[in-house]
Amino acid sequence: MDSIRVVGGNRLNGTIPISGAKNAALPLMIASLLTEEELILENVPHLADVESLIRILTNHGVDYHVAGKRRAHANQQGRNIAFRAAEIVDTTAPYELVSKMRASFWVIGPLLARMHKARVSLPGGCAIGTRPVDLFIASLEAMGAAIDIDHGYAVASAPGGLKGADFTFAKVSVGATHVAMMAATLARGKTVLRNAAREPEVVDLANCLTAMGARISGAGTGTITIEGVEALHGARHRVLPDRIETGTYAMAVAMTGGEVLLQDAEAALLQNALDVLIKAGVEVEERNDGLRIARNGAAIRPVNIVTEPFPGFPTDLQAQFMALMTQAEGDSIIRETIFENRFMHVQELARLGARIGLDGQTATVHGPSRLCGAQVMATDLRASVSLVMAGLAAEGETMITRVYHLDRGFEHLEQKLSACGADIQRLSH
Ligand code: EPZ
Repeated sequence: MDSIRVVGGNRLNGTIPISGAKNAALPLMIASLLTEEELILENVPHLADVESLIRILTNHGVDYHVAGKRRAHANQQGRNIAFRAAEIVDTTAPYELVSKMRASFWVIGPLLARMHKARVSLPGGCAIGTRPVDLFIASLEAMGAAIDIDHGYAVASAPGGLKGADFTFAKVSVGATHVAMMAATLARGKTVLRNAAREPEVVDLANCLTAMGARISGAGTGTITIEGVEALHGARHRVLPDRIETGTYAMAVAMTGGEVLLQDAEAALLQNALDVLIKAGVEVEERNDGLRIARNGAAIRPVNIVTEPFPGFPTDLQAQFMALMTQAEGDSIIRETIFENRFMHVQELARLGARIGLDGQTATVHGPSRLCGAQVMATDLRASVSLVMAGLAAEGETMITRVYHLDRGFEHLEQKLSACGADIQRLSH
């Protein structure tokens, strides 16, 4: 199993190209199940989660074709992938495939909409919380589906096809919004989704579905309206830039000091987190080609945050922000409201010398701490990268094990950081 070795102390200077967003690419790929024509996605990141989803889609009968390297993409960023679900040959998503990645459960929406049936393994719990699927089931049932849980599978059917519904989510859920929106595109009549997620990835999916012929309004607000159509057609769509990757590297630069251009990053996708960084004393400048992030000598000020659905501070940047706050001149309070168990990085950061108190869903970070390299291990994607960041600021060598978590969501992490002066390398055992 690979590990990553970081020797801390170097400032970051240079340019980091921002990849296509993992959390946009996954639902966009799943949307290919909605049409028999070709969906071409540009800027799909090279990530383990993308590969896992390709395995699931091909099991349903989807063909895919990856365009070769182009001169314009000499830095190997992203890929253009064409997906074609000319015929869906299997409406079962088996446990062996779904258990690898929770988002694969989302195929239930398009399968029900197009094939009027689906049998999808329940994803089970994960390191960051229990993550139930009640909201998916309730919204699809409102559209007329009958769903039973049988031997660990959600078995769904809608013999006459789905029908439009007026549905209010009891809680904001990104995944349930994606699924209900995809399902409603082929339902008979109008669907109104209330208390919908407003994340940029929902807007990206709505834009792609619209390019495929869907009739959607209100994506990006709490109420999305979808007028069902007979069929969707092929389209070409570019995956939006990854706001979590952007925020992660911005926080890494804040932590080590230096100046980096985050190429192709879009400030509007993470304004709340950027405002927090500005409050912490980081320079943030919006440019035509991306975002310039700098900290040259200024102290890091403590800032309190609460994670919330978009447009609030994203839970996917909470661990990274905690790493940054270990270097702040005072105490900061971090409250996690999205997932009940997303503080697994606290103990690992403590191994590097961080002082963090935990009380239920609230962490108090006592800064500044002198971090010293150690061997650490992580339990989820964002927690792992917070340890890489802490390693960049620590004295001496940090070894991060269980690198497969990082490979799920950060494209070319070591290359991007080492190009900016970090001493980081992957060790294969
Ligand atoms: C998406 O997960 C992201 N994943 C997560 O990113 C992200 O942390 C999360 O949204 C919140 O922003 C992808 O986009 C692939 P939710 P999702 O449904 O859709 C509860 C990463 O690191 N809930 O918005 O699964 C749930 O338990 C990942 O890239 C129900 O109660 O998240 C949680 O407490 C991790 N019932 C809350 O809603 C349901 O049926 C929000 O989860 C569904 C969700």
